[in-house]
Amino acid sequence: MTGNNRGTSLEVLLQEDRRFPPPDAFRRSAWAKDENIYERAARDPKGFWENWAKELDWFQPWKKVLDWKPPHAKWFIDGKINACVNCVDRHVFSNTGHRARRNKAAIIWEGEPGDTRTLTYWDLYREVNRFANVLKKLGVKKDDRVAIYLPMVPELMIACLSCARIGAIHSVVFGGFSAEALRDRINDAQAKLLITADFGWRRGQQIQLKKAADEALENTPSIENAVVVKRGGFQDTAPQFQWKAERDHWWHELMEQAGAYAEPEQNDAEDMLFILYTSGTTGKPKGIVHTTGGYLTGVYATTKWVFDLKDEDVYWCTADIGWITGHSYVIYGPLANGAAVFIYEGAPDWPAKDRLWRLIEKYGITIFYTAPTAIRAFMKWGREWIEKSNLSSLRLLGSVGEPINPEAWMWYQENIGKGKCPVVDTWWQTETGSIMITPLPGITVTKPGSATRAFPGIEAEVLDEKGGRIEAGGGCVAITKPWPSMLRTIYKDDERYVKTYWSKWNKSIYFPGDGVKRDEEGYFWFTGRVDDVIKLSGHRIGAAEVESALVDYPAVAEAAVVGKTHEIKGQAIVAFVTLKEGKKGSPELVNELKAHVVKKIGAIARPEEILFSADLPKTRSGKIMRRLLRDIAEGKALGDTTTLADPAVVEHLKAQYEEVEG
Ligand code: WTA
Repeated sequence: MTGNNRGTSLEVLLQEDRRFPPPDAFRRSAWAKDENIYERAARDPKGFWENWAKELDWFQPWKKVLDWKPPHAKWFIDGKINACVNCVDRHVFSNTGHRARRNKAAIIWEGEPGDTRTLTYWDLYREVNRFANVLKKLGVKKDDRVAIYLPMVPELMIACLSCARIGAIHSVVFGGFSAEALRDRINDAQAKLLITADFGWRRGQQIQLKKAADEALENTPSIENAVVVKRGGFQDTAPQFQWKAERDHWWHELMEQAGAYAEPEQNDAEDMLFILYTSGTTGKPKGIVHTTGGYLTGVYATTKWVFDLKDEDVYWCTADIGWITGHSYVIYGPLANGAAVFIYEGAPDWPAKDRLWRLIEKYGITIFYTAPTAIRAFMKWGREWIEKSNLSSLRLLGSVGEPINPEAWMWYQENIGKGKCPVVDTWWQTETGSIMITPLPGITVTKPGSATRAFPGIEAEVLDEKGGRIEAGGGCVAITKPWPSMLRTIYKDDERYVKTYWSKWNKSIYFPGDGVKRDEEGYFWFTGRVDDVIKLSGHRIGAAEVESALVDYPAVAEAAVVGKTHEIKGQAIVAFVTLKEGKKGSPELVNELKAHVVKKIGAIARPEEILFSADLPKTRSGKIMRRLLRDIAEGKALGDTTTLADPAVVEHLKAQYEEVEG
């Protein structure tokens, strides 16, 4: 098992004896305050989830809660529902008239240059109806796939919700991915339409999305049209993109022509809501499939209880909508709850390292949900950046994406939460759709560094390699019962779905791929991935993807990529590369290879270090032993080398690496 515990050994973690009970005032007013909900949900998980589903609006109720033929689940059989109606319409209209939330802010947005927009639920209703009509006019029908490649602007949320309104399936591609990565995702999903923007702002630079899209669209036969949001506004410069009149359309021009109402599609509970690509252990990202009724039930319930979301809150999850956290906890969960959702386009240190704190003060943010990597960066930047802003509006803090070390947890609780805000460390995945292991802020006594226990209705355990149950101690986390927001399959690759997630132990136990320890009180302490998935600044990158990008470069013969502990990012990418006969490594080649990875995947996957080596450690059957490379990169004593074909290779590499590291 690979540990990713950033120098805090598990033994130290488990000696953590600080305890933080919920503040009394918080407990009294929390949605979830009764400890017995855990037991009640465990006794009847189907009934528990059914009660949550009843809080949503359905066109037609379900006939049966769950159909479980391991490893395939269907939830809310024959129920008819629309996600957009649940996130928008129902806050605007009741059966008899209007609702109060109609005039409430749904989306409060600030662009990096400081431009702002607020959309009330009524505004959002108007926008999603019109854009749904635009989609229809461009020939998008129910079940068609729509690729979305946008910066963090309100149109990104409008685009997703409009797809949901007409039953089209969105596939959002993070704006930091390269043209090639976008192209591959479009082609895998056979998307019919691409929605992009001229550019987005990041650290004062224009990120040229349309330009990258143009490059991607050179090789995407399924795309018929592209809709382009004009981000513009500040420092307009000459466009760097092409314009193909028969393919490209400006968003604002189409919207001017669009009708004011689009009848929402009565989707089946099991109709696909979206595909989201994520990294696994092979070179090819997986299209994770989420459906409608179960997904919405899961994100609605967890948003309400984990964030204790109330009408008066201003809620801010800093994740980009290009990742699952943005899908579930920027769009669907909070909007289904009728929340005021704040979104920010740019970088946290632009124009200075106090941007986030200024935003919290300016908008009176009450709930703040971010990643440990960001928290560690704030720690490094220093408290002087925080002290200038008034953060007293905050009442709850959340963390997601990677294990949070106790030091970062404490720092967050003391400096951002001022000791008065509960901290919820939420463990979950793209595949799980919604939060699985987490404190409930009005109930749980938290411990710094622990995600505590499973959400009610979720059954989580720690299992050993053979599936033996570990009451206290380390192993792999396992989910032993189906849950509503679980992935349904991998798009067009059900075999891989079964093999990746349901074959470790048996066909009815879900294998998330995370290492975990359980303490005497049953609390979960996550320790990192047990496979070759790297978590870099909370983002998920497959070692194999970076390897295939490297071997795509002509001079490269072979590559092995591992994650190395990094103080801020959690993990950083280290690549070991062997070159073809007659090629020689050089600093220039290192830069070229890094640039090549950026071109193939995106800047997020740029290797931190590249080491040339004459050989890579392999087993006698020719398998590269990444475990040993990880030991080398971490500067650890080498583990068992007896299975190596040539043990000298790794000794040599280790000496070479130590020399480079100085
Ligand atoms: C890791 C992000 C420890 C974990 C929502 C998981 C965490 C992967 C936590 C999924 C946490 C996420 N503590 N580890 N609170 N949250 N992870 O699909 O390794 O981008 O398997 O979803 O992130 O990453 P993904």
